[in-house]
Amino acid sequence: MKHWQLNKEENGIVVVVIDKAGESANSLSAEVMAEFGEILDQLDKQPPKGLIIRSGKEAGFIAGADIGEFSQLDTADKGRALVARGWNLFNRLAAVPYPTLALVRGHCLGGGLELALACRYLLAVDESGTKMGLPEVMLGIFPGWGGMLRLPRRVGPAAALDMMLTGKSIDAKRAKKMGLADDCVPPRVMEMAARQLLLSGQPRRPLPFMQRLLNGPLKSVVANGARKQVAKKARPEHYPAPYAIIDLWAQHDGNALAAPDLIDRIITSPTARNLVRVFHLQERLKGFGKDSDFKARRVHVIGAGVMGGDIAAWCALRGMTVTLQDQNLERIAPALKRAYALFSKRLRDPLKIRDAFDRLIPDPNGDGVAHADVVIEAIFENVEAKHALFKSLEPRLKPGAVLATNTSSLKLEDLRTVLAKPERLVGIHFFNPVAMMPLVEVVEAEGADPATVQAACAFVKQIDKLPLPVKSQPGFLVDAVLAPYMLAAMRAVDEGISPETVDEAMLAFGMPMGPIELVDTVGLDIAMAAGKQLAGGADAPRCLIERVEKNQLGKKSGQGFYDWSSGKAAKGAAGSIPAGLAERLVTPLIDRVEKLVADGVVADPELADAGVIFGTGFAPFTGGPMHFRQVGEK
Ligand code: NAI
Repeated sequence: MKHWQLNKEENGIVVVVIDKAGESANSLSAEVMAEFGEILDQLDKQPPKGLIIRSGKEAGFIAGADIGEFSQLDTADKGRALVARGWNLFNRLAAVPYPTLALVRGHCLGGGLELALACRYLLAVDESGTKMGLPEVMLGIFPGWGGMLRLPRRVGPAAALDMMLTGKSIDAKRAKKMGLADDCVPPRVMEMAARQLLLSGQPRRPLPFMQRLLNGPLKSVVANGARKQVAKKARPEHYPAPYAIIDLWAQHDGNALAAPDLIDRIITSPTARNLVRVFHLQERLKGFGKDSDFKARRVHVIGAGVMGGDIAAWCALRGMTVTLQDQNLERIAPALKRAYALFSKRLRDPLKIRDAFDRLIPDPNGDGVAHADVVIEAIFENVEAKHALFKSLEPRLKPGAVLATNTSSLKLEDLRTVLAKPERLVGIHFFNPVAMMPLVEVVEAEGADPATVQAACAFVKQIDKLPLPVKSQPGFLVDAVLAPYMLAAMRAVDEGISPETVDEAMLAFGMPMGPIELVDTVGLDIAMAAGKQLAGGADAPRCLIERVEKNQLGKKSGQGFYDWSSGKAAKGAAGSIPAGLAERLVTPLIDRVEKLVADGVVADPELADAGVIFGTGFAPFTGGPMHFRQVGEK
């Protein structure tokens, strides 16, 4: 066999090892599945005492179905055949007369988890990389290979729907606590534990009575609640898959083959195609960090303000030792407080929180510079201040250290004039709020050292953000495309359309936040400054000037277009949306993306789409602005 090995042990146990040929991670392609079917045929003839399924890859158990094969699903028949393939095979696995066990170490996602769920036992190995989830919804599809049937039976419908509708994954300990895994053991005892559990005859832990009711006669109550939750986040016309998951579970016990029309509708929907495209775009961005051996251990951040403080905290969260410099300790203190809140939210475990906090070191004198692999400047947006800082930094840098600026609007070519080696300055441009935004632009100035740019990409990848290489131009990609969009939205307000109506038009289009609320969030003063720089000399909108004059700067001042005194934008009801408003507002954004691609600020249309989706939240179901326009023109 090409992708599986089969080992018979003297004790009568058979261990099958999945090790997909030519790949670093396992995925369930048609060929891999067919071979697994052959294994079951063989074992039917000579049933073993028990079967253990494990992975031969360092990377993990199974990453899911083969996403490349999704792109070939151009007809409804192919979609149905794909669902049937996994549904039938895993039902067969679930029905074998001998005990079966999935030994799950590392990622176990999508079809991989559906395979593990079809085994009698699931043994999770307690390691940092072990995670289990059904992320199909993120690709616009559903877990049709038994996940919708078996996960609710194992963990109860509320927990199962939460996992299936959000796509989030859980670690080994949590899996045990929820009842998804039968046990969770450290790697050194996993072999023995697997064999013991397999032959234990131990029945599965039954679902508590209430959960069985909710998964049976009371399904409709759970389904209605879930539909309401989903409706808050995703509109069915944009994202049909989560609604389909609820219906398939509630009406067909997770068997999609019982609702072939729904399969056709979901699998051939533009949303599924576009979300698969977005997945590939994301993989492309991740690829940018791969060409460099650069590995950062220590990071030094200068400026503990909104950005620097949060960048430092993020790097510490991701395991780096971080020194954080500002003019004095008082200015660093608020950043430490925010960092503590971030660590508490993300890490939960008090020991891990303490360790992360220990890694974040206040450093008012800048002693960390000499040891840092990456130095990030995030001080005031002022050329003279940055010049003075760079002059003092350069002689203290380690050879090979990356020197980066987080500047939004200053030209790198102007900032680096004071350096003896100007080619070493790169931009590493984070977005606010740092913890939430997946994209980071890596800015290459004219004549920059390519190795440094690659090292910067590797660093961004190392901290689990998506690097997007861009050329040095005002606003780079993301800010430059948002400026004309926000301007168009404010012009609409000048015309007398209410901010609520403008925002609602874009929410209905599929944006995560309306453009007027976005202006309030960014700050009206910043929007004004960005407008001056990026709007090509156009006059500022009246509604913006009036508010800035009254010092109504948005969220940070408590009042902008909306009242923020409660911490959230107090919005009134939206009026009826004028026909074509969304198209009118989004057109300047797409025009600008096209221009930036033509100017070479970003290398190609795909990367531009990736940047705008991950940097602004541009409606992912459209596949990105360039793709959206192309499809519209066809
Ligand atoms: P901020 O005003 O919140 O923080 C700047 C910090 O730098 C202050 O704490 C200040 O005390 C400190 N500082 C100033 N000069 C210093 C020096 N010589 N040595 C040590 N510390 C010094 O500013 P914010 O918003 O964090 O912006 C920082 C940089 O990040 C700017 O270049 C800005 O363009 C950029 N940026 C800002 C974004 C935002 O949304 N605020 C988004 C992306 C980039």
